[in-house]
Amino acid sequence: MENRYPELFQPFRIGKVEIKNKVVMSPMLSIGWFDEQSVISDRMIDYYVERAKGGVGAVFTCGNVPDAHLERCPFTISPFAAPERFVAQVRKLAQALHQYDTKLFVQIWFGLGRVAFSDFMEDQPVAVSEGPNRWKPEVTCREMTTEEVYGLIQAVVDGAKLIYEAGADGIDINGAYGGYMGDQFTTDVFNHRTDEFGGSMDGQLRVLTEIVRRIKEETASDYPVTCRLGTKHYMRAERQAAVPGEVYTEYGRDVEESIAMAKKLEAAGYDAFLMGNGAYDSFHWLYPPMYHKEGLWLDDFAPLTAQVHIPVIGPGKILQPQMANDAIAQGKVTAVAIGRALLADPNWVNKAAADKAEEIRPCIGCNAGCIGRIFAGQTMLCAVNADLFHEAEEALTPAETPKKVAVIGGGIAGMEAARIAAARGHKVTIYEAGAQLGGATLAANVPDYKAASRRLLKWFEHELQKTGVEVKLNCSITPEQAAALDADVLVVSTGAKAKIPPIPGVHGANVMTAVDVLLKKAPVGQNVVVIGGGQVGCEVAYELLRDGKKVSVVECLDGLVSGGTEAISAAVVLMLQDLLNYYKAEIHVSTSVKEIREHTVVIESNGTRSELPADTVVLAVGYAANDALYTALKDCGKELYLIGDARKSPGNILHAVADGNKVGRKI
Ligand SMILES: Cc1cc2nc3c(=O)[nH]c(=O)nc-3n(C[C@H](O)[C@H](O)[C@H](O)COP(=O)(O)O)c2cc1C
Ligand code: SF4
Repeated sequence: MENRYPELFQPFRIGKVEIKNKVVMSPMLSIGWFDEQSVISDRMIDYYVERAKGGVGAVFTCGNVPDAHLERCPFTISPFAAPERFVAQVRKLAQALHQYDTKLFVQIWFGLGRVAFSDFMEDQPVAVSEGPNRWKPEVTCREMTTEEVYGLIQAVVDGAKLIYEAGADGIDINGAYGGYMGDQFTTDVFNHRTDEFGGSMDGQLRVLTEIVRRIKEETASDYPVTCRLGTKHYMRAERQAAVPGEVYTEYGRDVEESIAMAKKLEAAGYDAFLMGNGAYDSFHWLYPPMYHKEGLWLDDFAPLTAQVHIPVIGPGKILQPQMANDAIAQGKVTAVAIGRALLADPNWVNKAAADKAEEIRPCIGCNAGCIGRIFAGQTMLCAVNADLFHEAEEALTPAETPKKVAVIGGGIAGMEAARIAAARGHKVTIYEAGAQLGGATLAANVPDYKAASRRLLKWFEHELQKTGVEVKLNCSITPEQAAALDADVLVVSTGAKAKIPPIPGVHGANVMTAVDVLLKKAPVGQNVVVIGGGQVGCEVAYELLRDGKKVSVVECLDGLVSGGTEAISAAVVLMLQDLLNYYKAEIHVSTSVKEIREHTVVIESNGTRSELPADTVVLAVGYAANDALYTALKDCGKELYLIGDARKSPGNILHAVADGNKVGRKI
């Protein structure tokens, strides 16, 4: 029978290089996993090879910064400063990928410019033109001198020669994309230069056209060079993003301009475009979180694809093979690039090839493990894939002595522990008090934009079935019953309970928890006050606003989504803020709630009290670990574990999966 996604499994060419299928791995900066010289480490090679084994046609590595001495910060250490080590490691990677007939494109990224994190910079930030820093407008970036621009071009070409020498199949230039340094040259509002690198479109593109000319001249005329290119920035103004569906005037670049640029870049010698929309000023379009639709950029790429003669490779929340196949079939792109979905499941391509899309572990767009952590200066992880960057050690070892394992609580942590333990040969039963598996995610997954999270639940159910885990639903377990279970091991994953703040009136008939609202347990009135402006509070507010309610959000901290112990991506934070503003939520930060009355909520800010109308009051002030069962079982004499939110709350899905995985491997 023919594969359901025939378009994906056709070869295509980037210049002289044939790629076996139309799925490439999009570049992703693997903070925390480089070696001490910022060179691709052996662990990173294992990570890329795992995706090659998983079927991708080509790997586009993350950005490597040229050795131009322009920016000194931890994100911009050039691996080209260690040329021998760099060449050796890239050669090793290329050879390893070639064993799976996967091609290698190594990316060069010019650096940050005006979007630098000025706190990390050792010098005054340098940008294409003088102007305020994106994150801290009070910091002024100085303009690069013309000499420095030529130095940058030279450093890119020097790096390219190393990549060529190492045997990579091609080079990707992180050029006109994302609001980074390269894109600042090619964006009118950020390039005010009066030398040959500013002015007309030709001037603004000169860095990129010079680079491709020089690389081809100094490596080989047919050596493939691709350019990363954005069709649309989605900026309403500097530091202001549009929201989906908003009618606004584009402040940055729009599709028409990108087509004109693409034609010039093609004429200059580039062999393909790796696309990508958004910018740092519209951060949530650049690293789109769950609130954005799947395949959000494809319609912007389509008109450009129609007007150039080289391949256009499109990423952007392409999570499912069907969408990838259709985008190619409809001519929106030549091939697809998959980023985070390949972090979540390295075997995405092979599963699509085997017509087993339902076995793909979905990326849920949380950004909690990847973008969220790297921007917090932490190692890159994936919330749903605990094996990321542990590829060489990931194989599950069969249990020495198969045991009977009872997992009490069928949320994410419990399901992960169960599937791993069962895959290792243990006999596992999940006891779940509710009518469905999923725990806290059942309420969290209600909004329409949580489709990928709902697919993750289905994926777990499928895996549990495959590994022979027995699931007992509607099965509440007391400590006595737990101790008496026919089990050698008890894994307690009883989740967390909503906190009820000690506010007068909190037990009134007009008060509901966020979970009750999401699960539609009772009708919600027209005027709503949400107490708590964390991620849950903002998501509930967004649901209610879209439902036509008048919503006020009251938060005691000085910003929305600003508390919590786990890294929350700026893309999530900024998008929720933008959505709530767009839908006209009334936001009260640095404000405490003094009393809940029958039709109002009394708040206090800066010592001043006022009242907000409230037919319904929603509590979203966090969760407390529900570890009572574990405490009662401590001396039961059985092998006992506590995992997930029951162990540490507030937690997040990353910590739930990691906990479950660790215990599943340990039993
Ligand atoms: C953790 C992370 C790091 C990234 N680093 C890079 C990078 O080094 N160079 C680049 O061009 N794009 C980078 N990107 C952007 C991705 O290539 C891709 O455009 C984006 O993630 C959207 O695609 P996706 O929805 O399939 O993940 C990064 C994305 C993530 C999530
Ligand atoms: S951390 Fe979240 S967004 Fe990032 S790859 Fe994993 S599931 Fe996707």
